[in-house]
Amino acid sequence: MTSIISLPKSFSTPQSLHATALRFKALRLHALKSAPYAFSSTHAEEAAFGDETWHSRLTSPDSKTFVAVAPSTADNDDRQWLGLITVIGPFSPLQAAIFLHADDAARKFLAAEPTTSCYVLVSFFVDASARGTGLGTGLITAAQEYIASSSPVGAVAALSAYKSNVSALCLYDRLGFKPIGHDKRGDELVLAKATDKDYKCN
Ligand SMILES: CC(C)(COP(=O)(O)OP(=O)(O)OC[C@H]1O[C@@H](n2cnc3c(N)ncnc32)[C@H](O)[C@@H]1OP(=O)(O)O)[C@@H](O)C(=O)NCCC(=O)NCCS
Repeated sequence: MTSIISLPKSFSTPQSLHATALRFKALRLHALKSAPYAFSSTHAEEAAFGDETWHSRLTSPDSKTFVAVAPSTADNDDRQWLGLITVIGPFSPLQAAIFLHADDAARKFLAAEPTTSCYVLVSFFVDASARGTGLGTGLITAAQEYIASSSPVGAVAALSAYKSNVSALCLYDRLGFKPIGHDKRGDELVLAKATDKDYKCN
């Protein structure tokens, strides 16, 4: 069965960190190459990153990456990585707005939230061969659960998406993310969703 795994932040050996970083790098570069319309970074920019950048993306205390992995087969226990998402934070509302290059409307929304913890979702991607089967939904759900468990009194998950990326925007909408403004250039929407608070309404 396809599953969502959380990548570790600490590794028993430098070799195991490097091996995981190489797989992470390969999937991220594949995402940038196959879906350039979806990201503000480019394949050329990130292909030039050295090993240290990929290592620190995995081990940074402020980031957490989830990967969708293919089912195992009898003759292959090295399961293919099919999708990923990274959660960055916690940020203050102002830091999150700066990270997202948010306009005044999005800044005001984030600053007005009762919580002070904001997390930003980045690098969201599922390989074209595996789309439409729920992996994207699973990755966002894993990210939201991580945010909720990291901030039990509630937090805001935010992200940005190009206005032209309608399929991603429809998925975010279905999962409860609402537009709160734009980026400063005006070609991306900034979306946000509050995670569960420590109470439930009937
Ligand atoms: C956006 C993206 C990550 C979504 O991944 P995904 O795995 O296809 O997401 P899901 O399968 O959970 O949902 C996608 C659609 O498939 C449908 N779906 C979900 N489970 C399904 C299933 N079992 N069978 C058929 N369809 C299904 C959903 O209803 C959804 O439909 P929608 O387009 O009306 O929202 C993927 O399209 C992608 O990588 N795009 C390129 C990169 C990108 O745009 N990233 C976002 C940057 S902001």
